[in-house]
Amino acid sequence: MSKRVNEGEVHAHQMTNSHILVNEFGYLEPASLEEAISLLSEYGDRAQVLAGGTNLIVWMKMEQMAPEYVVNIGKLPGLAGVSPQDGRLEIGALTKIRAVRNAPAVRAGYTALAEACASFGSTQIQMMGTLGGNLCNGSPASDTVPALLAFDAQLVIAGPDGERTVAVDEFLIGPGKTALRNSELLTLVQLPHPRPGTGSAFLKISRVEADLAKASAAAALVRDGDRILDCRLAYGSVGPTVMRAQKAEALLAGKLFSAELALEAGKVAAEEITPIDDARSTAWYRREVVKAITHDALQTAWQRAGEQGSRKQEAGSEKRDSPNPQSRIPNSEIELTVNGEQHRLRVRPNELLLNVLRERLELTGAKYGCGIGECGACTVLLNGQPVLACLVLAIAVDGSEVLTVEGLQGPNGELDPLQESFIEQNAFQCGYCTPGMLMMTKNLLQENPSPTEDEIREHLKGNRCRCTGYTAITRAVTSCTATGRS
Ligand SMILES: Cc1cc2nc3c(=O)[nH]c(=O)nc-3n(C[C@H](O)[C@H](O)[C@H](O)COP(=O)(O)OP(=O)(O)OC[C@H]3O[C@@H](n4cnc5c(N)ncnc54)[C@H](O)[C@@H]3O)c2cc1C
Ligand code: FES
Ligand code: FES
Repeated sequence: MSKRVNEGEVHAHQMTNSHILVNEFGYLEPASLEEAISLLSEYGDRAQVLAGGTNLIVWMKMEQMAPEYVVNIGKLPGLAGVSPQDGRLEIGALTKIRAVRNAPAVRAGYTALAEACASFGSTQIQMMGTLGGNLCNGSPASDTVPALLAFDAQLVIAGPDGERTVAVDEFLIGPGKTALRNSELLTLVQLPHPRPGTGSAFLKISRVEADLAKASAAAALVRDGDRILDCRLAYGSVGPTVMRAQKAEALLAGKLFSAELALEAGKVAAEEITPIDDARSTAWYRREVVKAITHDALQTAWQRAGEQGSRKQEAGSEKRDSPNPQSRIPNSEIELTVNGEQHRLRVRPNELLLNVLRERLELTGAKYGCGIGECGACTVLLNGQPVLACLVLAIAVDGSEVLTVEGLQGPNGELDPLQESFIEQNAFQCGYCTPGMLMMTKNLLQENPSPTEDEIREHLKGNRCRCTGYTAITRAVTSCTATGRS
């Protein structure tokens, strides 16, 4: 049962393992873009920007980074959402990967970008990570960047001297390095409207589905009858930055399309890239794979370009966040409603939501598995959306509602139908992964009451089970929906 913790009580951690944030830091939550830029100007290198936290919190946990201040831009108004404008599509930097993936305007006109977002990590990471964060971490393995490069995206950057716009090619400087200057923030990604006859595709090869790419490719081409008018090809995980293959593009431009030409372009691209051997793959393998994925991405993009004329554009306008003018002074006292019960607690900036739930509220259902976003054992619902509690700063979720596995049961202790189904179908053995599985399934059934087996597996791809196996878990979900109990 949950326990109310008295106001003023501050928990002192034993900093003994990598599942906690060891270093203390100051937490700042600006209420406007101007305030965020001014804080970054004031603190310079001593501050780090926090958006979705799926990179930053992991780096801090691994002690690869120890900022003195964390500036949370995640709640800044007006920086999330997808909106078609005259001649271009605008995507706010704080738009979550999942929201980009599901936006009708992206799915209709920028298929490669929607596919890149769908291939991204786990469902939870897609729901937490932002498009801006994926660009700003400067990783050569970023999934969205090849697609953004193929669509010739422009990036709007705000800083102390005002706004500037940079093409995504110029933004990428080296591994982990971007053209962002001190105190600047990425605010907007602009995609030019695709020319008539455009088709695109994104392909990714990885060790397991929810992993970074060994190699990825995005192709966007313009088709005129049997001819390729123009084409852009971009690759991830095959060089110091996400990169284009301009010789291969030149080979394709103006030519009659054929499978042989697509294969030839793959060979040229494989010579242009500069891959290395690392933990995920070898340079040799990456070159071989690039030949194949270039061919396949071109074939798919070509077919899609052919279908384009007949496809109805379903591009809608999704609302951007309405500005919230209220400034908020960050405080270490937070209020959380957990499983319907209100709690007021004083937290340190480096306390994670998972620490608070397990150690202070004694809700030990959510589990520590990996501590770095990879296993899903710590999944809880935050304001109805799944998050990995091991990567969420408690101080950043002041005023939120949290649902943990303990909150699934009814008022008289009766189990949720999903829990009953897990028991009936023997869908757990040690039970360590089960709370995370249940919370993700709860979210899935809210979004989609009758998921197919493939949809269940896709949604749960970031939840690792090391003993039962996924067959029984999937069966428990289908059995629950089939009997109409969910
Ligand atoms: C388990 C796991 C799986 C993952 N799988 C994938 C994957 O399959 N593909 C992939 O590409 N990535 C993957 N990632 C990486 C990560 O999720 C993405 O890069 C994500 O998009 C980062 O966004 P964020 O909002 O969480 O960034 P944050 O962690 O908040 O920030 C990342 C960096 O960008 C800076 N930053 C963020 N936003 C801005 C801004 N608007 N202006 C200026 N600077 C900014 C921050 O200072 C920080 O340095 C994975 C991560 C984890 C933990
Ligand atoms: S403990 Fe949070 S994802 Fe593994
Ligand atoms: S039941 Fe043991 S990890 Fe899934």
